[in-house]
Parts: sequence; C-alpha cells; structure tokens
Amino acid sequence: MYRWPAVQEAAEATRYQPRPDLPFPHLATPPTKHAESKNSLNSAANIILGRRSAQRFDARHTMPKQVFIQMIEALLPVARFPWNTLASHPLINLILFIHRVEGITPGLYLLLRAPRLAAQLSQSLNSQFLCQPVLEIPEHIPLQLLTPAPSTALYRTARSLHCHQDIAANACFAVGMLAEYNAAISHDASSYRDMHREAGLIGQVLYLQAESHGLRGTGIGCFFDEPVHQLLGLADDTFQTIYHFTVGLPLEDSRISTTFTFEPTTI
Ligand SMILES: Cc1cc2nc3c(=O)[nH]c(=O)nc-3n(C[C@H](O)[C@H](O)[C@H](O)COP(=O)(O)O)c2cc1C
Repeated sequence: MYRWPAVQEAAEATRYQPRPDLPFPHLATPPTKHAESKNSLNSAANIILGRRSAQRFDARHTMPKQVFIQMIEALLPVARFPWNTLASHPLINLILFIHRVEGITPGLYLLLRAPRLAAQLSQSLNSQFLCQPVLEIPEHIPLQLLTPAPSTALYRTARSLHCHQDIAANACFAVGMLAEYNAAISHDASSYRDMHREAGLIGQVLYLQAESHGLRGTGIGCFFDEPVHQLLGLADDTFQTIYHFTVGLPLEDSRISTTFTFEPTTI
C-alpha cells in the first residue's frame, strides 16, 4: 500500500485551534424564495437516496437556460441553509467551462460567489479576459464571460485539464472551484479545511440540483491544477483550484443499479 506522509502532515498542520469569539460569517440576504416542488417523486428523500455519479454524458444534450439559472443561483452563498452551516466566509469562486447551455455562448466563465475577492481576482487572472457580465441571465447572478471558445477547442481543453476524462468534455458544463489560498492559510492554517468543506458542499449542492432536474453530476478530483492555473493566467498561490465538478444528461450504465435499503418515507 502507498503511504502519503504529506497527508498526515497536512492534517496535523491544519487542525482547528480553539477560536473563541469568531464573528459569524456575513452572508448576502437570499432573494425571494422559490416555490417548493409539490411533486412527491421529487421529494428531498427521493433525490438524496437516488443520487449517483454520472459515468458518461450525452454530448448532444443542451441544458435549458432556466435549469442552468436555478442551478447556479443555488450555488450563491446566501444567508440560509446550507451555506449558513459553514464556519468561514466564502472562500471559493467558480470557473465554468460552459459547453451546452441554451442561449449561452460556449466558453470560460467566472461565477463571483465571493465578491470580497473581486479586485484580487481581476489582478491575478489573465489580463486578456473580457470579464463581461452575462446579460442573458438575471442581474443578481454574478456570472461573467471570461472568454468565448469554439466548442471543439473547449471540448479538448476541458478534457485534457481533467486527466483526459470525457465526463468533463461531454457535460453541459464543468466547474473548477478556485479558492483564496495563500492569504487564507497564512492567516489561519485551518482555513485549508474550511475551503475543502466549502468545496464539498458546492459539490453536494450540484449533485442534488442536477438530480432534481433529471440530470446528473460527477465530482472530479482528478484534474491538472497547474495547467488550470496557466489557462487562467494565475502566476502564484494567491488562488488555487481545489475540486472540480461536471453536470449533464447521464447515459445510464445498465450494469450499475441503485437499491434502497429502507423506504424513503421512514426517514
Ligand atoms: C471528491 C470526489 C472526487 C471524484 N473524482 C472523480 C473523478 O475524477 N472521476 C470520476 O469519474 N469520478 C469521480 N468521482 C465520483 C466517484 O467515482 C463516485 O462518487 C464514487 O464512485 C461513488 O459513486 P456514487 O457517487 O454514484 O455514489 C469523485 C467523487 C468525489 C466525491
């Protein structure tokens, strides 16, 4: 078995120290609530228990714009569950490789979840990026076009950056989670854990959002971080990409089955 001493060292170095009187993270006020789904097939229990990772995606499927809007709106860290369970203020902004979303030009995008970091990001990211607000979606969603890209080039780039995995290229969109890194960790080493908790939560929200819209997601832990940083023009450790994700229409693998070990209604 391989041993990875660096993992143990990181675990020890980032252990939480007693942090008395931490100010409660300030989160933006949520927009008006969406209507709850009345469809019992779409109950939270069914979605959670039926969740699986996609193995392959349908490369011809285009995500409806409304679905995309709901999914990325759910990723904005506002003052309600689940974002109010995190110990720190938001540390993660999202890079989106948008392949096929109705009405959205394929390309590289930034979802500014942590506006606190906007000035630093614009200093650090490739100065050629357009950083244009996307006018096709509601104004309160801070999505910016960094650069449009021909579909074939985007397919190749997304695939090779994600360890040559087709799931990153055939999805409707793939996401890179770009964390504030050096400053956060220098200030408090346990931020390293906070940023990974936030990344995990973003992944879980994407998994369940995808499932609830009849789509599917897959967490991507295998990606090449240095080439991702080069693509973005990042020259140092101010920001680091720490987890990726991909969402699309799954192609079912009939060899894999999901069984419930208990009735969802008994939860
Ligand atoms: C942190 C994390 C990283 C992952 N990375 C990859 C990946 O790079 N490629 C992939 O095909 N699946 C990846 N997965 C998906 C796992 O293979 C999948 O979650 C696991 O097989 C369990 O299946 P399930 O999600 O359907 O329950 C990842 C999942 C997580 C949570």
